[in-house]
Amino acid sequence: MYKNIDNSLAYRAFSGGPLVCIFTKSSKDVPDGMTAAWSCPYDPDVLLLVLDKDHTTSENIRHTKKFVVALPSGDQKKTALELGSVHGRDVGNKLQVKDIKTEKSQKFGLDVMSDALAYFECELQDEELFADKGICLSKVVNVYVKADCWDDKEECFNPGFKRTLHHVTGSTFCSGGELV
Ligand SMILES: Cc1cc2nc3c(=O)[nH]c(=O)nc-3n(C[C@H](O)[C@H](O)[C@H](O)COP(=O)(O)O)c2cc1C
Repeated sequence: MYKNIDNSLAYRAFSGGPLVCIFTKSSKDVPDGMTAAWSCPYDPDVLLLVLDKDHTTSENIRHTKKFVVALPSGDQKKTALELGSVHGRDVGNKLQVKDIKTEKSQKFGLDVMSDALAYFECELQDEELFADKGICLSKVVNVYVKADCWDDKEECFNPGFKRTLHHVTGSTFCSGGELV
């Protein structure tokens, strides 16, 4: 037996890919980070993100075309909520204000949260699509996975290691099948 729910809740039942945190810097070199629940792969080396056009992150991406997408682990919910709570343009350096522990990304040297399961250094693939619809096709130019989490033979995360967060509602997430 099924039941109808409101069409506007389709995304809640469907849910997105893993929760991601996106790191950029402004034209004035101010670093920023935000959280996004609407993510999925698009091609083997292209990720798809859906970003509100008014976010500081979107403005930074339109300007620099370069950004880092990080996969927070199940125990980084607090960081994800903090990055998703204010606009960079309203607070200056959000990473400093929120006391986010960061390191430099390997290729671009952008500030990225420490201890993520993996991060992907990306370039904006389709400027028009992003400007028009907020669909951010992210061409991966470098992938960095936590060494002890990754199985080189199977080319996937080791069993039990891909403890990503998946947004459910408000500040409730799912990680490893459990609500957190
Ligand atoms: C759990 C969570 C999921 C979010 N998912 C998205 C998303 O998929 N797309 C989006 O545009 N904003 C999303 N947001 C909102 C942004 O992270 C938030 O508005 C952020 O403050 C934007 O920061 P910025 O203006 O510094 O870029 C989400 C926020 C939270 C807390």
